[in-house]
Amino acid sequence: MKVLSVASECVPFMKTGGLADVVGALPGALAPLGVGVRVLVPGYPSMMAALPEDAEVHALARLPGGKARLVTGRAAGIDVMVLDSPRLFDRSGNPYLGPDGRDWPDNHLRFGALCRLAARIAVDGLGGWQPDLVHLHDWQAGLAALWLKLGRRRPAPPSLLTIHNIAFQGLFPRGAMTSLGLPEAGFHPDGFEFFGQLGFLKAGLVYADRISTVSPTYARELMSPEFGMGLHGVIDSRRGALSGILNGIDVEAWNPESDPHIASRYSAANPAGKAGNRVALARRLALHPAREGPLFCVVSRLTRQKGLDLLLEVLPRLLARGASLALLGSGDPDLESAFRAAADDHPGRVGVVIGWDESLSHLMQAGADAIVVPSRFEPCGLTQLFGLRYGTLPVVARTGGLADTVIDANEAALRAGVATGFQFSPVAAAPLADALDRACDAFADETLWSGMVRRAMRHPVGWEASAEAYAGVYSELIESAA
Ligand code: ADP
Ligand code: GLC
Repeated sequence: MKVLSVASECVPFMKTGGLADVVGALPGALAPLGVGVRVLVPGYPSMMAALPEDAEVHALARLPGGKARLVTGRAAGIDVMVLDSPRLFDRSGNPYLGPDGRDWPDNHLRFGALCRLAARIAVDGLGGWQPDLVHLHDWQAGLAALWLKLGRRRPAPPSLLTIHNIAFQGLFPRGAMTSLGLPEAGFHPDGFEFFGQLGFLKAGLVYADRISTVSPTYARELMSPEFGMGLHGVIDSRRGALSGILNGIDVEAWNPESDPHIASRYSAANPAGKAGNRVALARRLALHPAREGPLFCVVSRLTRQKGLDLLLEVLPRLLARGASLALLGSGDPDLESAFRAAADDHPGRVGVVIGWDESLSHLMQAGADAIVVPSRFEPCGLTQLFGLRYGTLPVVARTGGLADTVIDANEAALRAGVATGFQFSPVAAAPLADALDRACDAFADETLWSGMVRRAMRHPVGWEASAEAYAGVYSELIESAA
């Protein structure tokens, strides 16, 4: 089975969040199941630099944004198809935002071109390769579903659209339709119009043959007004085509037994090495965490989604319990400065690194005792999965994938010996503070804590089950298209 996976991010070439991890890990997870994936991504400078010398080149005419090339080859173990269009993508830094922190004004052309090319590869094949199915990720790939349905010359392969985050919808003024060559006839609420604007994700939701999202709970939540962000009706109308498939993590790249980024290696059978990482992390962030109190960490985009304003609110209570906090994150300038101020106010107890640091993100997971993820919504979330794998117990909001991956240490779960972390709901300061209190209490009970750590580290967080689920959806789609 041949699959074209279309996305704006893919590790190790471009990453701003979990989308990149998932797109980069799926090809390797699906290969043993007989699914050959090629990933179509934009030719950002970092992607172009990673292309092999023997890459094949095809000229492309008539794409939105002008002339371009398709370059295909194998890089970092992934078969990539790269849209090389210097005019659209030869820009370093964040893939969506310019240096002024605003969306690039031509994002409709940039990702429109990616979608157009995806449809072209799918319908006509390029370089002797044509997929049996197209897997589209998030709004940046959404319009491809529409073009697959419009091309009437030949039957197009079926499409699956995966929603990683409904908060990003790819909305553009109606006028953008002209430069993209979209038919006026599709601009209505049952087509790609979203309240007077052109919606890339909306197009994907309407025209893709199947839809999935990254956890069963988020799949249900998406059909409610609270979580659907205006698209709940459309999603509800397609509930028969919707699946929730949990993300996994790359258990090779994230393995405390062999991780090159951490100070000392350890395993569930022999977790003692974790202590050396706590010391290394403390040194790195100039922390002096109390022995008796847990060291909590956060590795996150700093946005409203992630609920970290609530953590700031409960910080005094947390510190009063003898706990410490290490945070690595970037995003909203107000949150960045609030966390910087917290570090200044509590030297040795709160350590903050503002920025993006892949290597430090591994040491945070290895060195902290617990990881806090108080998200207002969380389609899946990966950092709590890294936390489980590294024996860093997750304290999470009971929402989306967080609800599906962490087993709360309530009395029944403790009695049954299945707890792996702490959940709270609703997402507000007081319930978060209670969950953090419970974590502090559990930490004080060494036997309880070390039992939970071992159990968390054995919790399956790899891709096996989910790769099977994707392969199942792919097969159903291909069979029903035949
Ligand atoms: P989201 O995609 O919503 O940001 P996820 O939990 O799915 O949330 O994925 C976030 C990914 O980004 C994880 O791989 C996490 O380790 C990584 N990450 C987030 N912030 C940083 C940072 N400041 N430095 C390094 N990695 C980060
Ligand atoms: C999104 C979501 C996150 C999810 C990631 C990968 O960015 O916010 O919850 O884990 O995509 O699917």
